[in-house]
Amino acid sequence: MFSELKPLPLDPILSLMQAYKEDTHPNKIDLGVGVYKDEAGHTKVLDAVKKAEEHRLKTEDTKTYIGLAGDLGFNAKIEALLFGAQHQVIEQDRVVTAQAPGGTGALRVAAEFIKRCNPEATIWVCDPTWANHYALFEAAHLSIREYPYYDQAAKSLRFEEMMQALMQVKSGDVVLLHACCHNPTGMDLTKEQWQKVAELLKEKQAVPLIDTAYLGFGEGLEEDAYGIRLLADQLDEVIICSSCSKNFGLYRERTGGCTVVAKNTAHKDNARSLLLTVVRGIYSMPPAHGAAIVDIILGSDELTKMWHDELAEMRNRINGLRELMVSKISDRNVAQDFGFIQQQYGMFSFLGINKEQIARLRDDYSIYIVGSSRVNVAGVSRQNIDYFADALADVLK
Ligand code: LMR
Repeated sequence: MFSELKPLPLDPILSLMQAYKEDTHPNKIDLGVGVYKDEAGHTKVLDAVKKAEEHRLKTEDTKTYIGLAGDLGFNAKIEALLFGAQHQVIEQDRVVTAQAPGGTGALRVAAEFIKRCNPEATIWVCDPTWANHYALFEAAHLSIREYPYYDQAAKSLRFEEMMQALMQVKSGDVVLLHACCHNPTGMDLTKEQWQKVAELLKEKQAVPLIDTAYLGFGEGLEEDAYGIRLLADQLDEVIICSSCSKNFGLYRERTGGCTVVAKNTAHKDNARSLLLTVVRGIYSMPPAHGAAIVDIILGSDELTKMWHDELAEMRNRINGLRELMVSKISDRNVAQDFGFIQQQYGMFSFLGINKEQIARLRDDYSIYIVGSSRVNVAGVSRQNIDYFADALADVLK
């Protein structure tokens, strides 16, 4: 049975991570995978997480199954984080969350859920988007169409073209949107643009699927949830896939949630039973640890404050690095203007350099960036920024 198997290409982001690990160059820089790093290049466990883990070690008294929906305390707190505690969808009992193994697990559940709700649904994804979105939606046999999003040359949103493409969306289709810190471009919708998208989806009776993996990394927790809250205010049905990998630094604990907003409580209850059926058929039940940590943090004023401070530190550092990157590159008198990096949010920006230049950065300097020219800004530091800027200036010559 296995004799006919051929090796398959690894996911481009994860294979880059592996190649970086194996590289022995003393000045190597990893600007590939979306993982936050501190000034020392380390991805540390947040202090709030450490404290919550200490508490959990003392209080956990069973390892029995957690249940299909996962940690109910976590689910309620994630909903409050996404919508704000007083939001109408919570007060009207229109929202349900299934804790999932990371944002990726949540997206896999959402894809299957959509297919079961409407086998004819097309999912519309932004061009470009996170490469793994395609694999996740294909796994559920959803038909996928792209809408224009980012203009590589102009370094701006293709908003008019996006809206034009979305005019073709049919009732019951799903439109993927990134809540904030767009992966891979760092280019987000403005408030006015979110409003226009909401109106169009309402008119078309289409459902947004909002992927939120970087809440709190852009402008702040409240600000970054703007689009989620606006769509939940104005539409009957919304799906949100959230991740605690980056904002809680819980990457390997695989902590996320698939949240569904329905028109009323009866629809929500039916959506819940479908969600749980889907979960049972994929991984049965989610892991407990990461969700318990988030539940403990968000259930304690002291730990929530500690987490907010640590999140702000990560956010501010990234925004500072964006500024530094722009000024260091411009010091090298390169012909291109990289000022756009400062206008974008979250970990990523597209440098807009070509494949050959990307390969030279890797081969000559051991600087790893994704083939689309996406860089993880959090991968640079005050120590390596000059090395990076010199290398970039060299390959741009
Ligand atoms: C990324 O885009 O680098 C992250 O979301 C990590 C991943 O799993 O690809």
